[in-house]
Amino acid sequence: MQIQLESELKKVKKVSNNQKDKEKIIKEMLRDEVRSISPYYGEEDDFEVKINLAGNESPFDLPAKIKDKFINEFQKTDINRYPEIYSEKIHQELADYLSSELNKEVSTKEVIIGNGSDELLDILIRTFVEKGDIVLSQAPTFSMYRYFSELGGGIYEEIPLDKDFTIENIKAKIDRLQPKLIFFCSPNNPTGEILAKDLILSITEYFSGPVIVDEAYADFSKEDLMAQVENHANLAVTRTFSKAFGLAGIRLGYLYGNSVLVEELKKVLKPYNLNTLTDILGCIVLNNNDIIKERIEFIKKERERVFEHLKSYSDWDLFPSEANFIYLEGKKTHLFKKALNQAGIKIRSYNTKPAAIRITIGSEEENDAVLRVLEEFKQNN
Ligand SMILES: Cc1ncc(COP(=O)(O)O)c(C=O)c1O
Repeated sequence: MQIQLESELKKVKKVSNNQKDKEKIIKEMLRDEVRSISPYYGEEDDFEVKINLAGNESPFDLPAKIKDKFINEFQKTDINRYPEIYSEKIHQELADYLSSELNKEVSTKEVIIGNGSDELLDILIRTFVEKGDIVLSQAPTFSMYRYFSELGGGIYEEIPLDKDFTIENIKAKIDRLQPKLIFFCSPNNPTGEILAKDLILSITEYFSGPVIVDEAYADFSKEDLMAQVENHANLAVTRTFSKAFGLAGIRLGYLYGNSVLVEELKKVLKPYNLNTLTDILGCIVLNNNDIIKERIEFIKKERERVFEHLKSYSDWDLFPSEANFIYLEGKKTHLFKKALNQAGIKIRSYNTKPAAIRITIGSEEENDAVLRVLEEFKQNN
């Protein structure tokens, strides 16, 4: 009788024209993890954005010469056809690029390319983490580790990046929590600091699961872990073209790891994951990367310039940065954010305790605009 009633109710609800009923029906159909998570939205702007220093993007568009090459290639492309299943050509270009960067032979079997490195973070979770498994990372850090872990039914645990972030304490946490996967982010988003190589390697040797080092900003830093990958089966590094390479708009990222790991990840990756346009432009930029290298040097110099100016105000804590942004902590940061917003400059803010902001390093003019606001701010605060 009860069952009959319930199914009657469902029938009624399914033909309902009331949006509230429909919402209820849809919510009931969802997996618990999807129902309880909020979609990723950026901060809303209540001012006219003239300069965007919120997303850690490159301030430079591609040179016209490179765009022209892209247009030429595009014109020769049959866009009605699917791309290569696993985008073999760009894998070869990337392997060649990494071989010259690392001064050793890197094979296409050791790299996997994603539709942004976000896609690869998601795939890592889906490959290793089952419902109820623990994913361990540092805090604060990039929000997507938690997002993908929880969406996949995992439990996300974090270790604060403070004076207790030591090898011994992390090992103790591993013993207690038995995580399935560890994410390190270095240079870290949002703080910009790099994690000690020794710490990551020591944890990689201690932990039996995958250790993923997200090096989205490593092009701006003085050290990275790429050269260590060949010595550790459970260590892999993810990188992106969205930051130093200035290609956030085409969504391109990669993972470098052991060939067996890469082969397993391919099972979880969708075939044809990379669209043809990304494929074409990615290959061109990999073959014309001198300009990218120059721009990285420029951003690093600008980072030091902006840092020195921000240091001249003592009422906040500045974090030394190895990335293309600077993180500031302290009560006054949100007042500074307000002043920046009034000047049309968008940055990232955090409602943490203490409050914090993150400012992306932009072009010279954009950074000058930030520093002009700073000078005025210092006089009034
Ligand atoms: C630490 C970190 N990892 C990964 C990403 C995602 O990069 P992609 O654009 O390649 O998906 C970001 C983007 O902000 C990031 O900050």
